[in-house]
Amino acid sequence: ESMQYEHILVSTPKPGVGFIQLNRPKALNALCTPLILELNAALRTYQADTSISAVVLTGSERAFAAGADIKEMKDLTFSTAYGADFIESWSDLVTFLKKPLITAINGYALGGGCELAMMGDILYCSTSAVFGQPEIKLGVIPGAGGSQRLTKAIGKSRAMEAILTGNNISSKQAGDWGLVAKVFDTPQECVDGALATAEKIAGYSQIAVKAAKEVVNKSQDLGIREGVEFERRLFHGMFGSKDQKIGMTAFAEKKKAEWTNE
Ligand code: HXC
Repeated sequence: ESMQYEHILVSTPKPGVGFIQLNRPKALNALCTPLILELNAALRTYQADTSISAVVLTGSERAFAAGADIKEMKDLTFSTAYGADFIESWSDLVTFLKKPLITAINGYALGGGCELAMMGDILYCSTSAVFGQPEIKLGVIPGAGGSQRLTKAIGKSRAMEAILTGNNISSKQAGDWGLVAKVFDTPQECVDGALATAEKIAGYSQIAVKAAKEVVNKSQDLGIREGVEFERRLFHGMFGSKDQKIGMTAFAEKKKAEWTNE
């Protein structure tokens, strides 16, 4: 590939299969804006490339992605979040890609990382995977579709428990509850399995594959859009609270947050 990226690696390991690896190891693939922009660019390139039929997205063995970049978000205000429609570009990731996206999840998939993983059409993980929406611990809420997609995937009570407590979801739970299609024994098997499935899909008619994805997605979309938009507004609103500043500053300074409920 001629395109050079800083935070992701792209390759074509199988015929018809685009492969993207998030590559910001020092920050456990925290999803800073430049990384999201590169991911958008890579996916747009794959969308336009008629030789690509399916895409696999993965992280490292240690982390799929540990969330949105807290250090980047911590000083955000309501007006900048709302004004720039912070995170809206994330939603593009799923809506413009008409080709199947398989997410291969190893290690941490937390917050925005879990949300990104759930943007996959098919989710595969290994036993090393740890899912969760820990935003509550930072004084905020999920902002990239987590409250909607997790609830659709695992049901209201389980999603409520995860989102209200910030507790992690294990790979076993993810498998048992249908959050993922398959749980592999090792990270390598997970990535290989995702590539094999993508290669299989790439063997079918691109038109049929496109239509199949579109019809399945119809079942998911109804009602979700409004929910995600509503969620995003409230997410923006969190940046007007004191506890958002406290929570994110505490994380950055490695201190315990002292909540004010303001
Ligand atoms: C910025 C992050 C980060 C994040 C980890 N790092 N997660 N930086 N944003 N989300 C950085 C750490 O600060 C640290 O940098 C380095 O990555 C390694 O992480 P450690 O914490 O030292 O690793 P470890 O002790 O193994 O703990 C791993 C961890 C922990 C449990 C995943 O890093 C963690 O709790 N991360 C935050 C998870 C989280 O809250 N995610 C949700 C974010 S909010 P240094 O410089 O110290 O080496 C969110 C909102 C989404 O995603 C809303 C819409 C997108």
